[in-house]
Amino acid sequence: MSGERPAGGVRQRESVERMPAYIQGKSIPDAVKLSSNENPYPPLDSVLEATRRQLESFNLYPDMGAAAVRQCIADHLGVRVEEVAVGAGSVEVAQQLINASAGEGDEVVFAWRSFEAYPIMVQVAGATPVPVPLTADERHDLEAMAAAVTPRTRLVFLCTPNNPTGTVVHADELERFLQAVPSDVLVVIDEAYVHFDDDPDSADGLEFFRRYENVAVLHTFSKAYGLAGLRIGYAVARERIADNLRRVALPFGVTGIAQTAAIASLDAEAELQQRVDLIVSERGRMLDALREAGWRALDSLGNFVWLRTGDRTPEVDAALKQGGVVARAYGIDGIRITVGSPEMNDRFLRAIADVAPAG
Ligand SMILES: Cc1ncc(COP(=O)(O)O)c(C=O)c1O
Repeated sequence: MSGERPAGGVRQRESVERMPAYIQGKSIPDAVKLSSNENPYPPLDSVLEATRRQLESFNLYPDMGAAAVRQCIADHLGVRVEEVAVGAGSVEVAQQLINASAGEGDEVVFAWRSFEAYPIMVQVAGATPVPVPLTADERHDLEAMAAAVTPRTRLVFLCTPNNPTGTVVHADELERFLQAVPSDVLVVIDEAYVHFDDDPDSADGLEFFRRYENVAVLHTFSKAYGLAGLRIGYAVARERIADNLRRVALPFGVTGIAQTAAIASLDAEAELQQRVDLIVSERGRMLDALREAGWRALDSLGNFVWLRTGDRTPEVDAALKQGGVVARAYGIDGIRITVGSPEMNDRFLRAIADVAPAG
């Protein structure tokens, strides 16, 4: 009985009781799970080895300042360590960004559909979500987003590549957008899927961070680096903002194991890149096969593909499950299928072969 307070029951924030809960991608026994944009490959030996050593000391709290991993990230990106803030996954860092920027009466603008956690976290902070519909070709409508910025706006999220549609924001569009948005509004470029983006026209968040004081960039170790279960992500932002992120962060939220794994992963980048390349090539294979079968599948620059199945979404979702594949269905909008290993993707292509194409 959620959402209703029984007579005499404990008082809770009404806005929280009305909020939809974040939905995790489903798992079904014996089906392949292509519903959470996870990396299908197991941890690298070098990363496992480094974290095994860390297991000996989990009676102790981790380094709350995450000094070593922040330094390693800073060196890797060519930014100052003071400009790096970490969290338990980039979702926690996104929450820090919201909590540090927006409260009651403030607005946070983002495209819709996009990452489902944005509206939830904005509401948790007591601020008002301002979703701006994507264009007909599933891209951020940056003109409409700029027009949605009001004196109450504190934060804008740009998700590129966008989850779930796989579309990207181009550098020239972002330049125009940043020129139009007041410089006291923080623009967060969420690049959770940036490693899979091979579009040369895409905006490079760090390049914009260097030129615009009000730009922050969000990165994660969950996707390309395959550390989703360990929970570590980070923001690159001006020092004052990064300091504030540390103020609102969950104390000791990033475990020592996650910090160690992130450092080991940055050291193993070449090996991880081979996996990313494989995922990108499999994405192309899936898109080719879908188009050949008559689906209108747009290019995706993430580790997933998107089908705008509209009101046929539940039917397509059921057919995939029948074929042993769990994808991520969004109401009557569409369905997102994570790019898995070649075998997992074969299973998906077999399952979808029985479905009349949509879109
Ligand atoms: C766009 C986007 N940002 C952030 C995240 C958060 O990922 P994590 O908290 O694992 O770093 C996700 C996860 O799916 C995402 O899709």
